[in-house]
Amino acid sequence: MKRACLFLITLMGCWLTTVGASDTGVSAGELRCELLTNPEGIDALRPRLSWTITGTGRGIVQTACQVLVASSAEKLAANQGDLWDSGKLNTAQSLHMGYAGKALKSRTRCFWKVKVWTNQGETSWSEPAYWSMGMLHYVEWKGRWIGLDRAFAWDDEKTFARLSARYFRKEFTAKKEISQATAYIIGLGLYELYLNGQKVGDQVLAPGPTDYTQGVKYNAFDVTKLLRNGANAIGTVLGNGRYYAMRQNYKPYKIKTFGYPKLLLNLDITYADGSREVITTDESWKVTAEGPIRTNNEYDGEEYDATKELTGWTTAGFDDKNWLKAEPVQEPGGQYEAQMNPNMKVMQTIRPVRLTRLPDGRYILDMGQNMAGWLRMRVTGQRGTQVKLRFAETLQPGGELYVRNLRDAKVTDIYTLKGGAVESWEPTFIYHGFRYVEITGYPGTPTLNDFDGRVVYDDMATIGTFTSSDPTLNQIHRNAYWGILSNYKGMPVDCPQRNERQPWLGDRSTGSYGESFLFDNSRLYAKWLDDIAQSQKADGSIPDVAPAFWRYYGDNVTWPGTYLNVADMLYRQFGDLETVRKHYPSMKKWMLYMADRYTENGLVTKDKYGDWCVPPEAKELIHAKDPARITEGALLASATYIHLLQTMERFARLLDVPADAETFTKTATTMKTAFNQRFLNQTAGQYGNNTVTANLLPLVFGIVPETVKPQVMACITDKILNENKGHISTGVIGTQWLMRGLTDNGRTDIAYRIATNRDYPGWGYMADHGATTIWELWNGDTANPEMNSGNHIMLLGDLLVWYYEHLAGIQSAPDAPAFKTIVMKPELPAGLNAVKAAYRSPYGQIVSDWKREKNSFSWNITIPANTKALVHIPAQDAGRVLEGGRKAGSAAGIKLVKTGAGRAVFEVGSGTYRFSSSL
Ligand code: BGC
Repeated sequence: MKRACLFLITLMGCWLTTVGASDTGVSAGELRCELLTNPEGIDALRPRLSWTITGTGRGIVQTACQVLVASSAEKLAANQGDLWDSGKLNTAQSLHMGYAGKALKSRTRCFWKVKVWTNQGETSWSEPAYWSMGMLHYVEWKGRWIGLDRAFAWDDEKTFARLSARYFRKEFTAKKEISQATAYIIGLGLYELYLNGQKVGDQVLAPGPTDYTQGVKYNAFDVTKLLRNGANAIGTVLGNGRYYAMRQNYKPYKIKTFGYPKLLLNLDITYADGSREVITTDESWKVTAEGPIRTNNEYDGEEYDATKELTGWTTAGFDDKNWLKAEPVQEPGGQYEAQMNPNMKVMQTIRPVRLTRLPDGRYILDMGQNMAGWLRMRVTGQRGTQVKLRFAETLQPGGELYVRNLRDAKVTDIYTLKGGAVESWEPTFIYHGFRYVEITGYPGTPTLNDFDGRVVYDDMATIGTFTSSDPTLNQIHRNAYWGILSNYKGMPVDCPQRNERQPWLGDRSTGSYGESFLFDNSRLYAKWLDDIAQSQKADGSIPDVAPAFWRYYGDNVTWPGTYLNVADMLYRQFGDLETVRKHYPSMKKWMLYMADRYTENGLVTKDKYGDWCVPPEAKELIHAKDPARITEGALLASATYIHLLQTMERFARLLDVPADAETFTKTATTMKTAFNQRFLNQTAGQYGNNTVTANLLPLVFGIVPETVKPQVMACITDKILNENKGHISTGVIGTQWLMRGLTDNGRTDIAYRIATNRDYPGWGYMADHGATTIWELWNGDTANPEMNSGNHIMLLGDLLVWYYEHLAGIQSAPDAPAFKTIVMKPELPAGLNAVKAAYRSPYGQIVSDWKREKNSFSWNITIPANTKALVHIPAQDAGRVLEGGRKAGSAAGIKLVKTGAGRAVFEVGSGTYRFSSSL
């Protein structure tokens, strides 16, 4: 993708010697369109443009900007914004600036740059960036959907389906010189595209999964450089992905399958003379299923027979006379949509740490890390030799794979050697969640050097790092990082290993927010909100799994409520108000639907899962049976519904719908009263059956009457400290608010204790018992294997939010989203003496690096340009806070705004600061 354009852009960058920084040292860069870097084929009609500003001085703010968008690189270089010349706009906005030029048509190529005026001088033009428009109208797609709507003799369509990959090819002649070529492809379930022997793009497992009857994603690639004058060949392989589901003819009322793989491709060529030709899929294409990929099933694995390789099939002149004719097939049904979130990629390659020979000649390979992706293998041997790879997260005591928790997923890859020279192989259309691999039939003696782990997840930047003086906190952060990336699969899934891998909503309710501190997940989650919207029924109902590959319309409040929480996260962390606007009608529809159908005694009480996965009373149990541990579902649902009303109220205000805002406020107020009537025991000052979750939710959602708050808080702390000896007792719902709830109510010490326990139950216990990711269950080492994944992240709750917002003290002010105003306010629980965190916000890098030594506190911070920060410095005496060795209050650009409660609060602009104080 993008290669040719990027080349042009780089070239342009070299021509213009003054690009970027100006004399002032201030420059604008990191240009993004719809938060994507140089995206190809988007369908936003008014794309939002963003950039960041850097400079050495302090307190840099943008005062004006000018954006140029041109239809060619040359025009842009000549400063001709023929699509849009914004002129000098007096605005501080550098994030999500809406394009306001000429109406953008399909396939328009847009080259753009920005120039910024700041209070410290102006920049010169930024380096140029690029985006192109996709196919905006259905009718612009030419050609036919092609495929073969049947299985072959060697396939198997029983429950554990085996379907060989389908290989499609077409040759064509380009009679004239080519000036530009773009490939638009919808290859379902998964595709690989080749032109003249070369793979197009570095994506894997593309396109993003959807409910294909509702929407299908197309990908676009600039392929100008891959084509040539004369004979050309296009080759596409289709795998099943989620289209031809992993389990066939099995629970058809629950598990959705869509049919056989199918393809629509338009290769759009513009010749140097200005004429245009579109090569499309149609009946002239040839197809075979007799290629090397014999089966591909996300649960069961891939089998590749190298003796069946179709050497040269993606180059012109290949003999395909024995291939079949591709057949026209029905379209999948869903809207054609530009994929606005990056595809998955091999994001890392890791080396295994141990190879152990079992007595019968099999080997067990240890990657040293639970991961999701696949194994790449190098092997030499005789033609026809088969090597079998089987995957698991853990080992049995005797050293064999432990696969019982994978349920019926067969997780087996088989490679058949073609013989001769060294062969290197990795699968194409599947992935596994694993740490260990059992290797059977490897010819000769394998060594560690023959394997590597290919870590596969959505192409997104890691934007947060966190280390501290506490090794347990650090290890949990590391485990969380691996857990999160393992479960990004074009949608957030619950787990990557067993026969499930479903996008359960409830798992990401607060999780998505915590994850946003580690990964730039905004595009993935924006896509997921579209998936959720597409899964909504006409009456408003939203399922627990979206896309609804598994049909779970249960109408409970907590899981579907994630729809609103993720939208809220996208606004708060990334400033993405457009996504809130887009989904507001369907969010509102769901809220009203739930209230209409499920209000009883003034509360919306519908619940299905309870406080899922609380630590149970017996070590082999999955779910607690002891009523004292179980929070009443009606309490969870109605508290959550009140919280969601508050979220809707905020959305309504942001979108300027005051009447809605008022209605939501009113409903929330009456529901709070009803809630307290039903669940609050006034005399004891406790809610429901007095679990931590039962008391915590009303506390953090502002339901508890002011006078009762101390008692409710006392119930929580008593339960944790006395009954649970400082341990966690909440499940998926309560844990989403636990760390912040404790901290915001003055008990960071307890939050810290819970976070750093190394005995049961806790995240530290998992780490201490061999976890390199996060478990599905607090007792994941002892519970029943039926539901016990080693790589689930729902139990993280708000832990990561707390790491970054409270321990590092990096928080976006709620009224100035995307860290336009940063609240820097670290907590210093006893025992924690240093934190060093960095977070790449949409405006640029934020750093918080603090240390406590005896009674002195030192804190290095970095604040990005065009933002400001309120810096809360723990200090006995505000007058004695120093910055760079001088009195902070008197330093230029630092303003004391408040003192009290052991803190001095300064307002600062961008720059790097070295504060110190006495505690
Ligand atoms: C999934 C969870 C999910 C839950 C809800 C489990 O099977 O793995 O992550 O949220 O079901 O019932």
